[in-house]
Amino acid sequence: MVRPRLLVVSMALPVTANRTGEEAWSFTMSPGGLVSALLGLKEFETKWIGWPGVDVYDAVGKKALSIALAEKGCIPVFLEEVCDQYYNGYCNNILWPIFHYLGTPPEYRNDATITYQSQYDAYKKANRIFFDVVKEHYQEGDVVWCHDYHVMLLPQYLKEYNNKMKVGWFLHTPFPSPDMYKTLPSRSELLRSVLTADLVGFHTYDFARHFVNACMCILGAEATSEVIVNQDKATRVAVFPIGIEPERFINTSKLSEVTEYMKKFKSDFGGRKLILGVDRLDTIKGIPHKYQAFEKFLEENEDMRGKVLLLQIAVPTRNGIGEYQKIKDQCHGLVGRINGRFGSISSVPIIHLDCSIHFHQLCALYAITDVLLVTSLRDGMNLVSSEFVACQNAEKGVLVLSEFAGAGQSLGAGALLVNPWNIKEVSNAIGEALRMSPEEKERKHQINFQYVKTHSTQQWADDFMNKLNEVTSKPELGT
Ligand code: UDP
Ligand code: G6P
Repeated sequence: MVRPRLLVVSMALPVTANRTGEEAWSFTMSPGGLVSALLGLKEFETKWIGWPGVDVYDAVGKKALSIALAEKGCIPVFLEEVCDQYYNGYCNNILWPIFHYLGTPPEYRNDATITYQSQYDAYKKANRIFFDVVKEHYQEGDVVWCHDYHVMLLPQYLKEYNNKMKVGWFLHTPFPSPDMYKTLPSRSELLRSVLTADLVGFHTYDFARHFVNACMCILGAEATSEVIVNQDKATRVAVFPIGIEPERFINTSKLSEVTEYMKKFKSDFGGRKLILGVDRLDTIKGIPHKYQAFEKFLEENEDMRGKVLLLQIAVPTRNGIGEYQKIKDQCHGLVGRINGRFGSISSVPIIHLDCSIHFHQLCALYAITDVLLVTSLRDGMNLVSSEFVACQNAEKGVLVLSEFAGAGQSLGAGALLVNPWNIKEVSNAIGEALRMSPEEKERKHQINFQYVKTHSTQQWADDFMNKLNEVTSKPELGT
């Protein structure tokens, strides 16, 4: 199959830049599942367009950074003065909470007109800046693949410029039910823009259904589950559950450096059972709920005290937003309380780390984990669950997975599904996972391992691209 060149557009580039001199830049990997997943697109010629993670105001710095990024196949979008209102404001303080059912943010309620309007203006400006960069680099025949809630206006700008451009848009978060989405003042403009794309993709049927229903009830569009027709323009909607690059995890887990880490960590943990959490420190991940469930487990299972450790990797994210500061303080408070209640001179039941860790250490931890605990209150997919499955070795661990993560729909059969709001239920699931027989663990693991192996990122991208190619110039309702 001849694959077109892909212009991937997302807020985040795969690397975040740090300035080390007037013309010198260093890079670290950007956090989050979108970046991890898209790095697995090995079989497409790809140019990745996005924000480099820093504001650069001088021409010398911009030029040097553009050259350094070009070597990595990346093209920077400089957002400068709109960045704060756009990224911390509209994207992550308004769209993100609404898309994850956290409701409208406090600022938006108290000072609705001023705050909302200025943040939405910044969103429009930022989407225009993304458009300018795409326009500069677009070559005939390219596919422009827009990712996530940061660039919902981009499809419209692209199509107004060149109606022949092939444009896809994929949402990596949940799309909420229309009742929640309807609270957004710019609800119609965003939907209309997304509908100018040729293909719109979601992780789950629920998210796609919510989107279709929102278009029907807000825009009055006609629709089936696969095609939406609004003002004579038809748009395809489809479901593409994203995966990981399984071989990368399977092969890394076998490296001697990783097996050395496994031995070291096991010895550091002193024979205790390991419960692992790996999440960005985000309000949607339900980390306080996880701590409360673990506290309940320790309360009710006296015999397990001192024999089990919860290690939480809390990857820093969106530090410029007040809610993210609050969740950090809340987690620290809970950890202090639980360690104070159940710790001893020689050990504490929770280790909470506010940092990201090296990929080899992550694979080693996945491999020796007894229980991976995912308590997301809402989550687009949750790739950590798949990564854990891919890294298992001889002795299998158990996945305890929130039913509110997209992954619950694909990995549920091999996991213990829980409602993270039900502290008692999660506490019981921890106990059940720790007591599960090796045979049952193996059985559950095999179900999920087969799924993870056969649903790779590459497969996901191929499916999306094949569907985009299939899209006729005018798909009809009912096709
Ligand atoms: N991850 C990371 N640094 C770490 C730990 C994890 O970059 O120190 C990665 C992890 O491997 C996974 C991603 O962050 O690929 C998290 O993706 P997920 O879909 O679970 O959640 P998201 O952060 O996108 O909400
Ligand atoms: C989620 C979003 C991504 C985003 C990632 C990290 O996965 O869907 O678009 O890149 O979180 O968020 P951040 O704001 O730290 O880049």
